[in-house]
Amino acid sequence: MEKKNIDWANIGFSYQQTDKRYVSNYKNGAWDEGALIEDDTITISECAGVLQYAQTIFEGLKAYTTEKGQIVIFRPDLNAERLEDSARRIEMPVFPKERFVDAVVKTIEANEAYVPPYGSGATLYVRPYMFGSSPVIGVKPADEYQFRVFTTPVGPYFKGGAKPITIKVSDFDRAAPHGTGHIKAGLNYAMSLHAIVTAHEEGFDENMYLDAGTRTKVEETGGANFLFVTKDNKIVTPKSGSILPSITRRSLMTVAKDYLGLEVEEREVLFDEVKDFAECGLCGTAAVISPVGKINDHGKEICFPSGMDEMGPITKKLYDTLTGIQMGRIEAPEGWIKVIK
Ligand code: PLP
Ligand code: COI
Repeated sequence: MEKKNIDWANIGFSYQQTDKRYVSNYKNGAWDEGALIEDDTITISECAGVLQYAQTIFEGLKAYTTEKGQIVIFRPDLNAERLEDSARRIEMPVFPKERFVDAVVKTIEANEAYVPPYGSGATLYVRPYMFGSSPVIGVKPADEYQFRVFTTPVGPYFKGGAKPITIKVSDFDRAAPHGTGHIKAGLNYAMSLHAIVTAHEEGFDENMYLDAGTRTKVEETGGANFLFVTKDNKIVTPKSGSILPSITRRSLMTVAKDYLGLEVEEREVLFDEVKDFAECGLCGTAAVISPVGKINDHGKEICFPSGMDEMGPITKKLYDTLTGIQMGRIEAPEGWIKVIK
């Protein structure tokens, strides 16, 4: 398979249309058999549930080329399960797990020419999503839905790649207690748009959101969970019912424990303790692990000892081990890697 002529090393995290996408429609209480299509546009009612009441959910995962030249994906079963949870929370039909994985595999196979080569620094981002497609005017769920998967080659989520970023403590909330922060619904991201534009205008890379109830605890950013390293090399990550349960974070906790022999803690993290940590990173599919060098709390700076030049040493070990597993350089735990070809 001849690869597309793309400057893989210099692409950012942006959308680039690829050849094929997967579509399945839900009507009269059932999903149709689904198909790969070429049309990248969608025609729906002006009154579709997604357009009026934001009934849409999504997932994000990546296809990697390994050292041996295989194309693999990382724990797609967990993305399938999370999409099921998201669907139930906003009254959408569940797209079955086996069909989800099959649709992801088919879409990647159909766009193989866009899977970046090993060592290029880029990956193929895969975006499964689902939305209410039939008209609703009273506030209620749609009767019809569309599930789709597209792919797009991407580079690092933050411009500098592995360079530490600076974030600010946001005055806006991302999610409410007992709300929808724990699912991957488009509405959570709409909530964060004004906050991220504001942060960028002020010269910051991202926001740290605090818990909306008390504004004393660390939640997450707009698109990644937090990981902290204590001065005695323990990994700490916030526990909260209103953050997205990151698959990367869950994997990194296992990597820290089983591969690096580190102690890990998932617990409430008070903002007041953040100044005492040695390292801070953002983890997610898009972010991988992006080191945070500095947090600005209304003009007061928290500067991590790891500094602004490089990732901290423990963050680096976590990063190298996780990406080593994803790229086939390090043996993966049972069931983590699905080989596509
Ligand atoms: N938190 C938010 C709000 C996200 O959008 C994402 C991205 O999916 C994550 C965390 C990281 O989750 P994952 O590691 O499953 O990609
Ligand atoms: C991902 O990491 O896959 C996400 O969905 C985050 C998004 C903000 C790009």
